[in-house]
Formats: sequence, structure tokens, C-alpha cells
Amino acid sequence: MLEVARYHADAKGCIAPEAVDAWARDGLLVIEDFVAADICQDLINAADSQVANFDAREAATVFSTATHEHAASEYFETSGDKIRFFFEEGVFDTSGTLQIPKEQAINKIGHALHDLDPTFQAFSYQPRLAVLAHQLGLVDPLLLQSMLIFKQPSIGGEVSWHQDGSFLYTVPQSVTGFWFALEEATLENGCLWVLPGEHARGLRSRFRRIDGRLQTEALPGAPDFDDTAKTPLEVPAGTLVVLNGLLPHYSAPNHSQKSRYAYTLHTISATAQYPKDNWLQRNDSFPLRSLGARTDCSNANQI
Ligand code: FE2
Repeated sequence: MLEVARYHADAKGCIAPEAVDAWARDGLLVIEDFVAADICQDLINAADSQVANFDAREAATVFSTATHEHAASEYFETSGDKIRFFFEEGVFDTSGTLQIPKEQAINKIGHALHDLDPTFQAFSYQPRLAVLAHQLGLVDPLLLQSMLIFKQPSIGGEVSWHQDGSFLYTVPQSVTGFWFALEEATLENGCLWVLPGEHARGLRSRFRRIDGRLQTEALPGAPDFDDTAKTPLEVPAGTLVVLNGLLPHYSAPNHSQKSRYAYTLHTISATAQYPKDNWLQRNDSFPLRSLGARTDCSNANQI
């Protein structure tokens, strides 16, 4: 099985030229020790307190069987500029009552933690990320989306093979994912799997609004995912995995007794076109913000 190389960033967020080469070649980059242990813990605590303050009775109206399809899709579609809570499969009864404690039942929080929660905001707009993004060739990155993915013990579900560019489509393709392991990710608790280099074969599908309904549309001539080279990314807490928006990735269910908290950020380029039929639309009064100023690493002590 292919081993994906691991790199490090310095205190400014600068990386070695070999890491930039790996990013271009593989469509992904693994940077260990990007997030200090105390910051990981702060983010875990902030996520847990979001869940603690969430009134799960709100969910009953959204996820009860009677209103399920329409209300649940509306709840998702209007979450781009809010903090909302999404559940694992099968955790509600027919009346919309949770069958297990909310702390175990929530699959993820999305999609504007980076603009609405002070802890996630400070983390997301940190200068090191802007420096790194610049080194990776991202042009005028704007922070579009954030998620906290819990992958709770025994219940955290699978995320099937996909490319982020299908969901956050721009012309030209510009979406880039920053996936932070807040806890160790292993084969047992559902680490990421990737297909290194497969970003070069283009986008397979688009998830977009067609006739008022969100649907997945296969793109003409798109090849199937070739998963013969699928590679697991078992990483320690604090690792950042950067993903080209065309890089196929997947994560398995969590069958272990350990959670697998991860925080994800997605950027797009301010110079790219963002279509109106993408699922995620922000209110005009709440525009996307830049990741930050360009900085170059030419004088940095690269590692
Ligand atoms: Fe993804």
C-alpha cells in the first residue's frame, strides 16, 4: 500500500519546497503537528459546548417522519450561513424524538462555525493558514464553509467517496479543503482514505439545484473512481490534511470506542465564479471573508 509522505510547517506556516511539490503531484498534503494539543482541546471543548447549548427539541420538527423530507432538506439548504446540527442515521423515532443522548447522536455541525463561533473564528482566520494557502498557490482564498465532524464511537457513519468540488463547484475549480484531526484518526475510528494523484482526472459529478431540488448530476465522460490505489491516512491529533477539491476521499464508519473529531474548512478563490445553483448560498448581508493577507516564505527558515 502506498505511503503518503508527512511534512511539517514552521511557526509562520511555511513549508518545504518538497511539500509544495507533493501537493501538486498528489492533490493532497499531510502536515503533522500543525495544531498544538491545547488548541485541539479548545476546539473540542467549543464543539462540545455548541452541542450542550443546542436544544434537541428543535430537531423534532425538522426530523420527525411526518415532515422529514421537506423540512430536513430546507434545514440543510439554509445552513450555509448558520450553525446547525446534523444527525446520524436512525437516531429519531417516528415522532422526531431522539432515541439516544444528543452528544452521541450528532454527526456534524455546519456550515458557518468559522464566522459565528469565536473559538472557531479565531482558529480559522489564523495567519499561518493564509501563509500556507499562499504557498500552495491558492488565489485570493475566501472561507466558504466549516464543519465539525464528530464520528462518535460505534455510531459515526461512513462518508462515501466524493470530491469536494462536486458540492462547492466553481469555475475554474478552486475549492480546497483543510481537514484538521482534533483527535487521532485510525483505521478503527474512521480515518480518511484518499486516492493520491486522482485529482488529475477531473471532476466526476456536480451536486446542484435542478428544478428546485438538489440532485447529483454525473458529468459527461467522467471516469469512475479508480480505488485500487486507495490509501488510508492514519494521523495523530493536530495533523492537517489539505485536499485539492478534485481529490477523491472517503471515511469509514467508526466501529471503535474512541471518537474521531475533525474540523474542516473549505476555501474558494475570490476570482472564480460561484454558481447560483450550488447548494450553499450565503445571505448577501453576510459576505464571505478572505482568509487573509498574502505572505511569502522566501525569507523564512523553511523546514
Ligand atoms: Fe469531503
